[in-house]
Amino acid sequence: MPPSLHDLTRRYPLTTELRSGQQAVLSPFTDDDRDDMLTFTQSLDEEALLFLREDITSPATIDAWLMEVETGDSFAVVARVDGDLVGYSSLHVEPAKWTRPARWTRHIGEIRINVHGDYRGSGVGSLLAAEIREVAPALGVTKLSAQMTVDQEGAQVIFERLGFRYQATLEGWVIDREGNHRDLVIMSCDL
Ligand SMILES: CC(C)(COP(=O)(O)OP(=O)(O)OC[C@H]1O[C@@H](n2cnc3c(N)ncnc32)[C@H](O)[C@@H]1OP(=O)(O)O)[C@@H](O)C(=O)NCCC(=O)NCCS
Repeated sequence: MPPSLHDLTRRYPLTTELRSGQQAVLSPFTDDDRDDMLTFTQSLDEEALLFLREDITSPATIDAWLMEVETGDSFAVVARVDGDLVGYSSLHVEPAKWTRPARWTRHIGEIRINVHGDYRGSGVGSLLAAEIREVAPALGVTKLSAQMTVDQEGAQVIFERLGFRYQATLEGWVIDREGNHRDLVIMSCDL
Protein backbone atom coordinates (compact mmCIF):
# COMPACT_ATOMS: atom_id res chain seq x y z
CA MET A 1 0.00 0.00 0.00
CA PRO A 2 1.47 3.40 -0.95
CA PRO A 3 1.39 6.05 1.78
CA SER A 4 -1.82 8.10 1.74
CA LEU A 5 -1.92 11.63 0.37
CA HIS A 6 -2.76 12.78 3.87
CA ASP A 7 0.42 11.16 5.25
CA LEU A 8 2.56 12.57 2.44
CA THR A 9 1.28 16.10 2.76
CA ARG A 10 2.20 16.11 6.46
CA ARG A 11 5.83 16.52 5.27
CA TYR A 12 5.02 20.06 4.13
CA PRO A 13 6.02 22.84 4.37
CA LEU A 14 9.45 21.56 3.33
CA THR A 15 12.38 23.96 3.45
CA THR A 16 15.23 23.23 1.11
CA GLU A 17 18.35 25.01 -0.10
CA LEU A 18 18.80 26.03 -3.72
CA ARG A 19 22.13 26.11 -5.56
CA SER A 20 22.32 29.84 -4.88
CA GLY A 21 22.16 29.18 -1.14
CA GLN A 22 18.66 30.69 -1.00
CA GLN A 23 16.01 28.83 0.97
CA ALA A 24 12.96 27.58 -0.92
CA VAL A 25 9.80 26.46 0.84
CA LEU A 26 7.74 23.76 -0.87
CA SER A 27 4.07 23.31 0.01
CA PRO A 28 0.87 21.96 -1.56
CA PHE A 29 -1.04 24.35 -3.85
CA THR A 30 -4.23 25.55 -2.14
CA ASP A 31 -6.82 28.32 -2.41
CA ASP A 32 -4.48 30.51 -0.33
CA ASP A 33 -1.98 30.48 -3.22
CA ARG A 34 -4.51 31.61 -5.86
CA ASP A 35 -3.49 35.25 -6.15
CA ASP A 36 0.24 34.53 -5.91
CA MET A 37 -0.12 31.86 -8.60
CA LEU A 38 -1.73 34.45 -10.87
CA THR A 39 1.05 36.94 -10.12
CA PHE A 40 3.55 34.19 -11.00
CA THR A 41 1.91 33.12 -14.25
CA GLN A 42 1.33 36.70 -15.35
CA SER A 43 5.01 37.49 -14.79
CA LEU A 44 6.29 34.66 -17.00
CA ASP A 45 8.44 35.86 -19.89
CA GLU A 46 7.26 35.86 -23.51
CA GLU A 47 9.12 32.64 -24.35
CA ALA A 48 7.51 30.77 -21.45
CA LEU A 49 4.07 32.10 -22.36
CA LEU A 50 4.46 30.85 -25.93
CA PHE A 51 4.38 27.24 -24.77
CA LEU A 52 1.68 27.24 -22.12
CA ARG A 53 -0.46 24.15 -22.39
CA GLU A 54 -3.42 26.06 -20.95
CA ASP A 55 -3.86 29.76 -20.36
CA ILE A 56 -2.84 29.76 -16.71
CA THR A 57 -2.55 33.55 -16.82
CA SER A 58 -6.36 33.61 -16.69
CA PRO A 59 -8.07 33.71 -13.26
CA ALA A 60 -10.76 31.34 -14.57
CA THR A 61 -8.14 28.70 -15.41
CA ILE A 62 -6.56 28.97 -11.96
CA ASP A 63 -9.99 28.66 -10.33
CA ALA A 64 -10.79 25.58 -12.45
CA TRP A 65 -7.42 24.09 -11.47
CA LEU A 66 -8.16 24.69 -7.77
CA MET A 67 -11.48 22.90 -8.26
CA GLU A 68 -9.54 19.91 -9.63
CA VAL A 69 -7.30 20.01 -6.55
CA GLU A 70 -10.47 19.98 -4.45
CA THR A 71 -11.89 16.93 -6.29
CA GLY A 72 -8.56 15.08 -6.21
CA ASP A 73 -8.05 15.24 -9.99
CA SER A 74 -4.95 17.36 -9.51
CA PHE A 75 -2.25 17.93 -6.93
CA ALA A 76 0.48 20.53 -7.09
CA VAL A 77 3.44 21.75 -5.10
CA VAL A 78 4.45 25.40 -5.12
CA ALA A 79 7.92 26.73 -4.34
CA ARG A 80 8.38 30.04 -2.59
CA VAL A 81 11.56 32.05 -2.07
CA ASP A 82 11.32 34.93 0.38
CA GLY A 83 7.55 34.50 0.19
CA ASP A 84 7.38 34.87 -3.61
CA LEU A 85 5.93 31.98 -5.60
CA VAL A 86 8.74 31.08 -8.04
CA GLY A 87 7.53 27.81 -9.52
CA TYR A 88 5.25 24.81 -9.31
CA SER A 89 4.95 21.23 -10.39
CA SER A 90 1.59 19.58 -10.82
CA LEU A 91 0.03 16.19 -11.31
CA HIS A 92 -3.13 15.71 -13.36
CA VAL A 93 -5.13 12.50 -13.41
CA GLU A 94 -8.22 11.50 -15.36
CA PRO A 95 -11.01 13.93 -14.53
CA ALA A 96 -14.05 12.99 -12.49
CA LYS A 97 -13.63 10.09 -10.11
CA TRP A 98 -16.97 8.57 -11.10
CA THR A 99 -15.83 7.87 -14.68
CA ARG A 100 -12.18 7.11 -13.90
CA PRO A 101 -12.65 3.45 -12.85
CA ALA A 102 -13.68 2.56 -16.40
CA ARG A 103 -11.02 4.48 -18.27
CA TRP A 104 -8.09 2.63 -19.80
CA THR A 105 -5.72 5.52 -18.95
CA ARG A 106 -6.84 5.68 -15.32
CA HIS A 107 -3.37 4.61 -14.09
CA ILE A 108 -1.64 7.54 -15.82
CA GLY A 109 -0.88 10.89 -14.24
CA GLU A 110 0.59 13.77 -16.16
CA ILE A 111 3.27 15.90 -14.58
CA ARG A 112 3.82 19.57 -15.51
CA ILE A 113 6.48 21.95 -14.19
CA ASN A 114 7.01 25.67 -14.52
CA VAL A 115 9.77 27.77 -12.97
CA HIS A 116 10.17 31.53 -13.20
CA GLY A 117 12.95 32.61 -15.57
CA ASP A 118 14.92 34.20 -12.70
CA TYR A 119 15.11 30.84 -10.90
CA ARG A 120 15.92 28.48 -13.77
CA GLY A 121 19.09 26.49 -13.20
CA SER A 122 18.71 26.89 -9.43
CA GLY A 123 17.70 23.26 -8.95
CA VAL A 124 14.14 24.17 -7.98
CA GLY A 125 12.62 22.50 -11.07
CA SER A 126 14.26 19.18 -10.19
CA LEU A 127 13.12 19.43 -6.56
CA LEU A 128 9.54 20.18 -7.61
CA ALA A 129 9.42 17.33 -10.11
CA ALA A 130 10.78 14.90 -7.50
CA GLU A 131 7.96 15.89 -5.12
CA ILE A 132 5.31 14.96 -7.68
CA ARG A 133 7.00 11.62 -8.35
CA GLU A 134 6.87 10.94 -4.60
CA VAL A 135 3.21 11.87 -4.21
CA ALA A 136 1.84 10.30 -7.43
CA PRO A 137 1.26 6.74 -6.08
CA ALA A 138 -1.01 8.20 -3.39
CA LEU A 139 -3.31 9.39 -6.20
CA GLY A 140 -3.46 5.89 -7.69
CA VAL A 141 -0.93 6.72 -10.42
CA THR A 142 1.37 3.90 -11.54
CA LYS A 143 2.67 5.58 -14.71
CA LEU A 144 3.73 9.20 -14.99
CA SER A 145 3.68 10.97 -18.34
CA ALA A 146 5.25 14.26 -19.32
CA GLN A 147 4.60 16.25 -22.44
CA MET A 148 6.84 19.01 -23.74
CA THR A 149 7.92 20.54 -27.01
CA VAL A 150 11.27 19.42 -28.46
CA ASP A 151 12.64 22.86 -27.55
CA GLN A 152 12.01 22.37 -23.83
CA GLU A 153 15.35 20.63 -23.27
CA GLY A 154 15.72 21.54 -19.58
CA ALA A 155 12.52 19.62 -18.86
CA GLN A 156 13.78 16.57 -20.76
CA VAL A 157 16.99 16.62 -18.67
CA ILE A 158 15.02 16.76 -15.41
CA PHE A 159 12.62 13.97 -16.38
CA GLU A 160 15.41 11.68 -17.61
CA ARG A 161 17.21 12.08 -14.28
CA LEU A 162 14.00 11.11 -12.48
CA GLY A 163 13.80 7.88 -14.47
CA PHE A 164 11.56 8.95 -17.35
CA ARG A 165 12.17 7.42 -20.76
CA TYR A 166 11.43 8.83 -24.20
CA GLN A 167 8.19 7.46 -25.67
CA ALA A 168 7.30 9.36 -28.82
CA THR A 169 7.52 12.53 -30.86
CA LEU A 170 4.28 13.76 -32.39
CA GLU A 171 4.99 16.03 -35.33
CA GLY A 172 3.33 19.44 -35.35
CA TRP A 173 1.16 18.43 -32.37
CA VAL A 174 1.60 21.81 -30.64
CA ILE A 175 0.61 25.19 -31.93
CA ASP A 176 2.11 28.05 -29.95
CA ARG A 177 0.52 31.41 -29.18
CA GLU A 178 1.99 32.86 -32.37
CA GLY A 179 0.52 30.07 -34.48
CA ASN A 180 3.79 28.20 -35.12
CA HIS A 181 3.69 24.41 -35.09
CA ARG A 182 6.08 22.49 -32.82
CA ASP A 183 6.77 18.82 -32.29
CA LEU A 184 5.55 17.31 -29.02
CA VAL A 185 7.75 14.92 -27.03
CA ILE A 186 6.14 12.39 -24.69
CA MET A 187 8.14 10.78 -21.89
CA SER A 188 6.97 8.39 -19.21
CA CYS A 189 8.06 6.70 -16.01
CA ASP A 190 6.64 3.55 -14.40
CA LEU A 191 6.29 3.93 -10.64
C1 LIG B 1 12.03 22.87 -17.15
C2 LIG B 1 12.15 23.82 -15.97
C3 LIG B 1 10.99 23.56 -15.04
C4 LIG B 1 13.45 23.52 -15.24
O1 LIG B 1 13.52 24.26 -14.04
P1 LIG B 1 14.95 24.60 -13.39
O2 LIG B 1 14.70 25.13 -12.04
O3 LIG B 1 15.75 25.40 -14.33
O4 LIG B 1 15.57 23.14 -13.29
P2 LIG B 1 16.90 22.68 -12.57
O5 LIG B 1 17.74 23.86 -12.23
O6 LIG B 1 16.50 21.77 -11.47
O7 LIG B 1 17.62 21.74 -13.65
C5 LIG B 1 17.56 21.93 -14.99
C6 LIG B 1 18.69 21.11 -15.61
O8 LIG B 1 18.49 21.09 -17.01
C7 LIG B 1 19.65 21.61 -17.62
N1 LIG B 1 19.26 22.29 -18.86
C8 LIG B 1 18.49 23.38 -18.97
N2 LIG B 1 18.35 23.69 -20.27
C9 LIG B 1 19.07 22.76 -20.96
C10 LIG B 1 19.33 22.54 -22.32
N3 LIG B 1 18.84 23.35 -23.25
N4 LIG B 1 20.10 21.48 -22.66
C11 LIG B 1 20.60 20.65 -21.73
N5 LIG B 1 20.40 20.83 -20.40
C12 LIG B 1 19.63 21.86 -20.05
C13 LIG B 1 20.23 22.57 -16.61
O9 LIG B 1 21.57 22.86 -16.88
C14 LIG B 1 20.04 21.77 -15.35
O10 LIG B 1 21.02 20.77 -15.25
P3 LIG B 1 22.12 20.81 -14.07
O11 LIG B 1 21.38 20.37 -12.84
O12 LIG B 1 23.15 19.80 -14.49
O13 LIG B 1 22.63 22.19 -14.00
C15 LIG B 1 12.17 25.30 -16.39
O14 LIG B 1 13.20 25.48 -17.32
C16 LIG B 1 10.87 25.78 -16.99
O15 LIG B 1 9.99 26.22 -16.28
N6 LIG B 1 10.74 25.68 -18.34
C17 LIG B 1 9.53 26.10 -19.03
C18 LIG B 1 8.40 25.15 -18.79
C19 LIG B 1 8.73 23.74 -19.20
O16 LIG B 1 9.57 23.45 -20.04
N7 LIG B 1 7.99 22.82 -18.58
C20 LIG B 1 8.10 21.43 -18.88
C21 LIG B 1 6.87 20.93 -19.53
S1 LIG B 1 6.06 19.87 -18.44
